[in-house]
Amino acid sequence: MGLGLLREGINEVIATTWQNAAPMGLIYRNQVIRMVVFHGSHTAERISQDGWVVSNFIFDPLVYVRTAFEDLPPGEFLDEEAEGITVQRLAGAEAWAAYHASVEQETDDALILTLSLLKEEVCRAAFHPVNRGFNSIIEATVHATRFQNSHDPRLYDLIRHHASLVRRCGGARELEALDLLFTYIDIKSGDTGPW
Ligand SMILES: Cc1cc2nc3c(=O)[nH]c(=O)nc-3n(C[C@H](O)[C@H](O)[C@H](O)COP(=O)(O)O)c2cc1C
Repeated sequence: MGLGLLREGINEVIATTWQNAAPMGLIYRNQVIRMVVFHGSHTAERISQDGWVVSNFIFDPLVYVRTAFEDLPPGEFLDEEAEGITVQRLAGAEAWAAYHASVEQETDDALILTLSLLKEEVCRAAFHPVNRGFNSIIEATVHATRFQNSHDPRLYDLIRHHASLVRRCGGARELEALDLLFTYIDIKSGDTGPW
């Protein structure tokens, strides 16, 4: 029986697979947990190979930005045993849950996976007051991963909207994450954009 770490709806977590981490949505509805993972990502490749994924609960905005755009060094992963399988989670996770992942459907674009819980653990229980700056880092990072491919001006406007919320509502860590985000998508902080 699990601890029930997920809430209903889409849980934006950091998914770890073997030596890989990326923000991913875990969709929890009607007691079923699913993921839609686009082809071409390391996450899709590793899950197809190994059949497991770990959901990491972590509230550092920099981790969301970093893992969306680059790889983490091996020292940031920890081995865990889950039902006889060695899985890897983030060393900094406040809680984690390991899942067996099976392919429910495969489309031209993505794998649709159904997850079943192997093991979950709360490492430290921290309190996270709602902060719009943190939330806007998540939003801006989602848009930025799409902007990187499409350069769609509407996404650019959304990123700028969320950047202004980060500046208004975030703390030092959110501002650092925002600066890092701009380096990946080649927008300068004060840029008004060519569109
Ligand atoms: C909050 C957030 C949620 C995301 N959710 C998904 C998702 O559910 N499925 C997906 O394929 N990509 C998702 N992405 C985009 C991936 O994180 C991004 O493509 C990443 O580069 C994949 O890394 P990887 O190649 O190491 O797997 C999300 C990004 C963010 C910021």
